[in-house]
Amino acid sequence: RRFDHRPKPDPYCQALYPFCPTGSSDGSIPLMKEEDTIEVFRLQAPVWEFKYGDLLGHFKIMHDAVGFRSSLTHRNYTMEWYELFQLGNCTFPHLRPELETPFWCNQGAACFFEDIDDLHWKQNGSMIKVAEITGNVFNKMAKWVKEDNATGIYYETWTVEAAPSPNATVWFESYDCSRFVLRVYQKLAELGAAFNNKLQTNYTRIFLYSGEPTYLGNDTSIFGPRGNKTLASDIKAFYYPFRPHQSLKEFLISLLEIYDEVILKKTFYLYYNFGYWLLPMKSPYIKILYEEIPLPT
Ligand SMILES: *[C@@H]1O[C@H](CO)[C@@H](O)[C@H](O)[C@H]1NC(C)=O
Ligand SMILES: *[C@@H]1O[C@H](CO)[C@@H](O)[C@H](O)[C@H]1NC(C)=O
Ligand SMILES: *[C@@H]1O[C@H](CO)[C@@H](O)[C@H](O)[C@H]1NC(C)=O
Ligand SMILES: *[C@@H]1O[C@H](CO)[C@@H](O)[C@H](O)[C@H]1NC(C)=O
Ligand SMILES: *[C@@H]1O[C@H](CO)[C@@H](O)[C@H](O)[C@H]1NC(C)=O
Ligand SMILES: *[C@@H]1O[C@H](CO)[C@@H](O)[C@H](O)[C@H]1NC(C)=O
Ligand SMILES: *[C@@H]1O[C@H](CO)[C@@H](O)[C@H](O)[C@H]1NC(C)=O
Ligand SMILES: *[C@@H]1O[C@H](CO)[C@@H](O)[C@H](O)[C@H]1NC(C)=O
Repeated sequence: RRFDHRPKPDPYCQALYPFCPTGSSDGSIPLMKEEDTIEVFRLQAPVWEFKYGDLLGHFKIMHDAVGFRSSLTHRNYTMEWYELFQLGNCTFPHLRPELETPFWCNQGAACFFEDIDDLHWKQNGSMIKVAEITGNVFNKMAKWVKEDNATGIYYETWTVEAAPSPNATVWFESYDCSRFVLRVYQKLAELGAAFNNKLQTNYTRIFLYSGEPTYLGNDTSIFGPRGNKTLASDIKAFYYPFRPHQSLKEFLISLLEIYDEVILKKTFYLYYNFGYWLLPMKSPYIKILYEEIPLPT
């Protein structure tokens, strides 16, 4: 869902790592000279490799970004879209004892900053030139990024499909870093950019598989004073094993609870566009895939 503006995040949400530390404070994107030629790079590297070694690299959980290099000034820039309060906070809510409703810190946003950290992208990922654009096209794209950033606000981790087959029904689309990169490429193509279509471009998506979802309601209709108490407590019980900061023992118990709920009881409560949905889960339940989505033609 698109919104008319981006609300200020609740002060309860505190970032473990600050969002966009080297971007300009107002997110401004420098104007390029119209006649400039700007190279566009596809940037990809494992998520959080600095934290978990190459573990996530083996699962091919990749983070995507776009790089730009001006031929006139030789300056270069990175643009990416990611969680304000880290992935876990965008995937599961906080169950705060003082609140009836599960509380989400799930904003995501675009970050634009000068410099491309070549080593970071190349060493365990990739940095590949995909197109050349004019300064004029870049400036138009920058304007669009501002709008996109102000209206598409909430991170969505999951892609929910009916089955793991190519033409399966998509119930819910994710809204994450790779979706942003795909929107940028699409916008550049609309503005006239020609992409190098010989490249194979794969992206990570985290899939859930389910039958047709049922809409359950929103904060007011489920958790409000006239809400459905049974459903409210079922949803909170579902999210409880996903809470942050668990000890190893708690975590192992939680894994069993998650297995019981998702695989044995075939239930997943998805929060999407400010509403809760019941997913009747189906085998293979969950998959992390690194699949091709071609560059625009
Ligand atoms: C998630 O949000 C909580 C509450 O704001 C915060 O303490 C935490 O640092 C955030 N990030 C992670 C990875 O838990
Ligand atoms: C996008 O929005 C975030 C959150 O308000 C802001 O910090 C960032 O600078 C914006 N990015 C761009 C490119 O405008
Ligand atoms: C970007 O600029 C930095 C700093 O000047 C330089 O180290 C790096 O190699 C450049 N990367 C690209 C892809 O142009
Ligand atoms: C690449 O992966 C290796 C092995 O996991 C790690 O030691 C190195 O720091 C990574 N490089 C970057 C730039 O993240
Ligand atoms: C998927 O749909 C496309 C276009 O409608 C079709 O060409 C293709 O054969 C389908 N693939 C499968 C596995 O059904
Ligand atoms: C919840 O849904 C009801 C009816 O569908 C709507 O009137 C209400 O504004 C929604 N509340 C919130 C907090 O989104
Ligand atoms: C409350 O929710 C449960 C589970 O979705 C449903 O079976 C029940 O009919 C609901 N109760 C009311 C009063 O709506
Ligand atoms: C990229 O995706 C294609 C098709 O989705 C797949 O056949 C190929 O193995 C993937 N490449 C890698 C490196 O995983």
